[in-house]
Amino acid sequence: MLGDGCGATRLMRYLPALRFDALGWAYEPIAMRLCRAARWRPALVDAVAPRPGARILDLGCGPGTVGRLLERRCPEALVVGVDPDPVMLRRAHRENVRHGSQMILVQASATALPHDDPLDAPFHVCVSSLAFHHLEPRQKRAALGEAFRVLAPGGRLVIADWGPPQTAGGRLAFAVTQVFDGVATTRDHATGDFEAMLRALGLVDFAKQGRWATPVGTLCLYHGTKPAPSGA
Ligand SMILES: C[S@@+](CC[C@H](N)C(=O)[O-])C[C@H]1O[C@@H](n2cnc3c(N)ncnc32)[C@H](O)[C@@H]1O
Repeated sequence: MLGDGCGATRLMRYLPALRFDALGWAYEPIAMRLCRAARWRPALVDAVAPRPGARILDLGCGPGTVGRLLERRCPEALVVGVDPDPVMLRRAHRENVRHGSQMILVQASATALPHDDPLDAPFHVCVSSLAFHHLEPRQKRAALGEAFRVLAPGGRLVIADWGPPQTAGGRLAFAVTQVFDGVATTRDHATGDFEAMLRALGLVDFAKQGRWATPVGTLCLYHGTKPAPSGA
């Protein structure tokens, strides 16, 4: 039996952390080059449309780049970033300090959001970019349920993530992404089942706003509004 002290087991356990600590500096260049983030992040920020006093929740905030872009667009909005990975959150914290950001960071999974401060008041927007394809279908449903729970009626859900590839080349590119990120978490993006999951939430004015071809997949931007309770 492999014991707790087995080198290989320990290596496997800490590999993701080692990868992000050692390659943390490379995260943004990779997002820019491979995921073409500079092309679609402005559309994501426009879709969120941060306003003074708005409470915005970033699910799977990673190093916090999107949160800081939202803050830059509207410094009077409050951004809370949630991520379960302590290494990502350390990096986000360092970058927040470097940029003088007020973004609040919480270590938690999007599938089970804490019920206490700063998540105990409703949010005007839940945003997420490139995080849902790290979740298996059951976890995606849980995370979408949580996003719906913490959104105020009339609040907006805005998600940027992989969608169905449009061409044979796109399918090949996404197959490479699936090797790295796992088939179980990415299959429903390729098949369109993730989009169906979003549609099933019953958001008002649900829209798939754009498709951006990247070297590693087709990026889609989805958004919609949580309906007000009937009779309100
Ligand atoms: C590719 S990064 C995207 C980071 C950031 N949203 C961006 O666009 O730059 C994916 C992030 O999803 C996070 N993640 C993975 N599982 C998660 C979960 N259950 N809940 C919330 N975030 C999760 C990872 O820790 C990682 O920081």
